[in-house]
Amino acid sequence: MTDTVLIFDTTLRDGEQSPGASMNVREKVTVAKQLERLGVDIIEAGFPVASPGDFEAVSEIARVLKKPVVVALARAKIKDIDVAFDAIKSAKRPMIHTFVSTSDIHLKYQLKKSREEVLKIAKASVKRAKSLTELVEFAAMDATRSDLPYLAEVVAVAIAAGATTINIPDTVGYTVPDEYAAIMKYLLENVPGIENTTLSVHCHNDLGLAVANSVAAVSSGARQVECTINGIGERAGNTSLEEFVMSLKVRKDRFGYNTNIKTELIYPTSRMVSAITGITVQPNKAIVGANAFSHESGIHQDGLLKEKTTYEIMTPQSIGYSHTSLVLGKHSGRHAFKERILKLGYELTDDQIEKAFKSFKKLADKKKEIFDEDIEAIVAEDILRIPERYQLIFLAISSGTDTIPTATVTLSIDGSKVRKADFGDGPVDAVYKTIKKMVGSKSRLLSYEVKAIPGGTDALGEVTVRLQDGEFRSVGAGAHTDIIVASAMAFINALNKLEGRKKKDVRETQMV
Ligand code: KIV
Ligand code: ZN
Repeated sequence: MTDTVLIFDTTLRDGEQSPGASMNVREKVTVAKQLERLGVDIIEAGFPVASPGDFEAVSEIARVLKKPVVVALARAKIKDIDVAFDAIKSAKRPMIHTFVSTSDIHLKYQLKKSREEVLKIAKASVKRAKSLTELVEFAAMDATRSDLPYLAEVVAVAIAAGATTINIPDTVGYTVPDEYAAIMKYLLENVPGIENTTLSVHCHNDLGLAVANSVAAVSSGARQVECTINGIGERAGNTSLEEFVMSLKVRKDRFGYNTNIKTELIYPTSRMVSAITGITVQPNKAIVGANAFSHESGIHQDGLLKEKTTYEIMTPQSIGYSHTSLVLGKHSGRHAFKERILKLGYELTDDQIEKAFKSFKKLADKKKEIFDEDIEAIVAEDILRIPERYQLIFLAISSGTDTIPTATVTLSIDGSKVRKADFGDGPVDAVYKTIKKMVGSKSRLLSYEVKAIPGGTDALGEVTVRLQDGEFRSVGAGAHTDIIVASAMAFINALNKLEGRKKKDVRETQMV
């Protein structure tokens, strides 16, 4: 059995199912190119039947990527499968990932189908996918809560119908390491032909065990792990790519497995995904959290000064982590700016570089020191964001000790300029109330966070907001030296994403 574990990245599909996360086509293509550089073997680009935006993003990713297998997700329905293939047909190595539930609980309450019916569905969907492309992954949804002999039966049928990869998802994050390892062992011993397929695992983190479960499954014979950057994904997220990959690398002595990941690109990739999705990384997150390499205790610092390995099991360099360093200033030229953009993982056209460079110069006039985070914020806002329904044109605020905070806002709504002024409890409240009235939004602000991008009092303020409107949620981000402007930008970004979510949901409901 090979000792290389394939990395199947689903940041653009399951990752995008994180509450509030959604990416536009440009953002998805940017992340996909970075994942290719990172060395992932397989990229799940999306769920094409879900919305025209998903279809467009998957098609574009299939067109531009050269090395990885490009995957489109499809329910076990002929229409989904045909649309999925249509989206990936230009890829060098297209793969359809089709799934159906196998647990009795899903069969009874969700699918309302018998075990026999699901066997037939699995067979027909894999056959259809196989008639379109050689590479077919079959997933038994909720596999870890399925009856094991029945799961083996479904997997056998999928293999006989032509599946080349078998995915055993822990859909609800319920399993534990030794149980998951035993499931792999059982399938490997009881399913005819499974040795000629790739056994894949896909874990959710509801009990915080996604990485441990993935490692256990690999030790028991799985050779593909499905994961996401920063562990983002449905509910508590998925197996975090960086944690899984670094576990295998740091404990090679114990496991003996390799991956094709260029680990020194892990940190820039984590930063890019966080900047684009607006989903911040918790400071104590393993591998990529801000504190992952900071040593606070005197005893630890003393040990580190004497010998790094006393308290450091991996070097920051091994994941490409660099302390935020001063990169550019007011006098930096285009060339240095372009180099830095490339180093951060963004491939921009000459026109885009020119546009970003102008914003950089404007910022450098206000702020002496420009950091990587500033540049990331410029690219995320000026280049990757596609002009959407609501755009901020003008904002003025009056607030102070003896004034009623008042905001005057001009927005472009569907291309027409609209202006309004209103009051609030504070300047941010005044801005949000005014904008809400202008766009007629009933959304509720779930959270509002401000972070200073390193520097002094002239730092960029980075604002992240989470909104809820009925069953829909969105996360918006904005960065500006004026935090009230950053707050307005983040709010408008979140409102635009809510609009996108609602449109997508209409499509999904029509599809069922
Ligand atoms: O968690 C899950 O079961 C999934 C499937 C669609 C593979 O994401
Ligand atoms: Zn999943």
